[in-house]
Amino acid sequence: MDQLKRQAAARALEEVRDGMQLGLGTGSTAKHFVELLGERVATGLKVIGVPTSETTRADAMRCGVPLTTLDEIDHLDMTVDGADEIDPDFNLIKGGGGALLREKIVAAASDRMIVIADDTKWVPTLGKFPLPIEVIPFGLGATRRAIEKAFAVCGVSGQMAVRKAKDGHVFVTDGGHWIVDAQLGCIVDPPGLATALSAIPGVVEHGLFIGLASSAVLAGGEGIRVIER
Ligand code: A5P
Repeated sequence: MDQLKRQAAARALEEVRDGMQLGLGTGSTAKHFVELLGERVATGLKVIGVPTSETTRADAMRCGVPLTTLDEIDHLDMTVDGADEIDPDFNLIKGGGGALLREKIVAAASDRMIVIADDTKWVPTLGKFPLPIEVIPFGLGATRRAIEKAFAVCGVSGQMAVRKAKDGHVFVTDGGHWIVDAQLGCIVDPPGLATALSAIPGVVEHGLFIGLASSAVLAGGEGIRVIER
């Protein structure tokens, strides 16, 4: 599986041109891209990147990829990032690694978003992977009730759990927030649910990426598929 992720990352690297300003995703697949990009930088490629997490920042620095911020540049040419699920309308679930807020800010600031993944991430309907919802800890009870109402309006339901870190403590995002993971099974209307969740005051962001991905590079046993939206 790791080999497939690396193959997808290598294919996305072919889209990188000298002088590009790049969004650098988070997760095990995006990490391959950062490593391969670092190898190209070492042999003379000129690019600059905006990392989507502190983990990716550290990886990029280790690999010698020059970094900047969205305060210093006015746009990104392309973001390359992984996903937890991709549907045929290019709706995504992201945030399994907890970086969804910065990932969405960076993707939205980019001219293009290339999703790199092994082909098990390509699914007919989103929802088997738990939907991450980034929340403010204050008033979480009220926020959870509002989320449940939004689920009901959008025709979904399921268990919610505050994400825990490996050490058993509550997982805290780079932005200092918590994540609630919702086991929905099947999300019938991803754009509708995205709109409903975004309207809840205690929800900082959610892992539904609608209209952001422009293409998907999917690596599988039978080779690589590049699918354009
Ligand atoms: C990070 O918050 C996520 O959005 C990742 O991009 C997503 O979970 C995919 O991760 P992997 O490449 O590790 O599967």
